[in-house]
Amino acid sequence: VNSKPLRLVLLASGNGSNAENLMSYAREHDDVEVVGLLSDNPEAFALQRAQRNQVPTAVVSAKGKSAQIREAEMIEQINHWKADWLCLCGYMRLLSQDFLSKFPLESTGLSRVLNIHPALLPAFPGLDGYGQAFDAGVKLAGATVHLVDAGMDTGPIVLQKAFERRDHDSLETFKARGLEHEYQLYREALDLIRHGRLQPQKKGSSWYVCTHSTT
Ligand code: GAR
Repeated sequence: VNSKPLRLVLLASGNGSNAENLMSYAREHDDVEVVGLLSDNPEAFALQRAQRNQVPTAVVSAKGKSAQIREAEMIEQINHWKADWLCLCGYMRLLSQDFLSKFPLESTGLSRVLNIHPALLPAFPGLDGYGQAFDAGVKLAGATVHLVDAGMDTGPIVLQKAFERRDHDSLETFKARGLEHEYQLYREALDLIRHGRLQPQKKGSSWYVCTHSTT
């Protein structure tokens, strides 16, 4: 067991059910702590969820400021919280390479920033992954946890979980089942980090994340 808990900062723009899942996860594991939740949206329900969980919150809105200033304010807050990892939980903005380089993952050139995306990347990046997949009539949908780079949902994939679309699914039932898979997947990704089992390897010109599965 680590003597120093893993310090997570959550970034959320909206409802925050993934943030809630990670706050529950931290309560269940002595070696993980959610040390803050940062939002770009003062109306985000995620902020109320954090307050209910006694997690400190901050808002850095984008209104009337350049991306550079916004990111500088975010970095100051995140450093104040002394984050080990950032976990994006429905955070709907891109982060610049300059921002990401402030949170280096060893000497890989990657960052200690995770995102969860509602599709089997590289399919359906961007907004409304479930809606895109549903409308495309996929039989197999899923969620992805990946390391964040400066692109839109393009960073190295850490874990994916697939689920089937059922014939009687509405977009609502499809999404709801997807979210349940997201919660499980984000927990598994944090298990990997806690156990030192998230190891990116450069293969040719791209990254592959080894997770040391025992099979
Ligand atoms: C989740 O489905 C998450 O995967 C998605 O937004 C939703 C947020 O729900 N994220 C993205 O689309 C990021 N590109 P939540 O606020 O209840 O966690």
